[in-house]
Amino acid sequence: MTSYLIQQRPRRNRISASIRGLMQENDLHARDLIYPMFVIDGEKKEEPIISMPGISRYSKDLLLEKAREAHLLGIPAIALFPALANEFKDRYATESTNSNGLLQQTVRLLKEELPSLTVITDIAMDPYSSDGHDGLVKNGEILNDETLEILARMAIAQAEAGADIVAPSDMMDGRVAAIRAALDDHGYENVGILSYTAKYASAFYGPFRDALDSAPKSGDKKTYQMDPANVREAIREVLLDEEEGADMVMVKPGMPYLDVVRQVREVAHVPVAVYQVSGEYAMIKAASQNGWLDQERCMMESLLAFKRAGADMILTYFAVEAAKVMQNA
Ligand code: PBG
Repeated sequence: MTSYLIQQRPRRNRISASIRGLMQENDLHARDLIYPMFVIDGEKKEEPIISMPGISRYSKDLLLEKAREAHLLGIPAIALFPALANEFKDRYATESTNSNGLLQQTVRLLKEELPSLTVITDIAMDPYSSDGHDGLVKNGEILNDETLEILARMAIAQAEAGADIVAPSDMMDGRVAAIRAALDDHGYENVGILSYTAKYASAFYGPFRDALDSAPKSGDKKTYQMDPANVREAIREVLLDEEEGADMVMVKPGMPYLDVVRQVREVAHVPVAVYQVSGEYAMIKAASQNGWLDQERCMMESLLAFKRAGADMILTYFAVEAAKVMQNA
């Protein structure tokens, strides 16, 4: 035995489950979770996404039932993405502004059947674009201001269908201001904007692009999505988005960018969301399916880490599974 005195014993605060409960600094609730969902045309259709085990594209009737199940588990919101056949895609993402398009029909159905479920719709051209880019492509360039006009029309079509919150994920400059002005002009001042503020040019979006078949046909997204090396730039985007009228800001991806979540939390005056993206989900799923990780514990630990980093809400494909765990806790 050593003879020196141990004056501080942090382990006293970990001595039992009840003491650990008292000491717990951060907590995860079902009400923090947003469930991203993929919709396809047709009826009674389910197409599993191979690179995202447990996640499928559903026709809107089945999606409604899955959304109902999520909402009954205490999940307050879903984020909706349409997977369109190629014949509906063109350079201008024309289908995105069709008031009777797949996404708009689905939003109407959800708001009719589940009025208390918050429906968040994505604003970007990629699911509707034959180029697979978030903006309008001309001679290999992504045109910023021309894209804003399309995004503004997309926002109005989504609000008109009943979207509660629109979420621009395109990273064009000035989009929040353009969308806010368009919404207000059309009487949608109560429709919120969740801005994908610090969205990085990440390799972790791979499975999502499989899900929507939306990978860029040429080039990459580096002239609009952020460089993974940067964090000051994220702060600049936060300040701009707040000034332009964002109601919430987002950091995406999540786990590799927890430092960004923390720094954004320090400067933002609006709530902060984080997106645990498709590749993060796929990693935990694949390792668990191999028996290399304990899925439930890794899932819950990763979600709690977002809360610790400072996120108020989390978009995650684990939403339903995590809510079930919390219900049984
Ligand atoms: C499209 C969009 C993407 C994601 C959400 N909205 C993909 C991309 O930018 O290429 C990714 C989500 C995920 O990987 O789970 N604007």
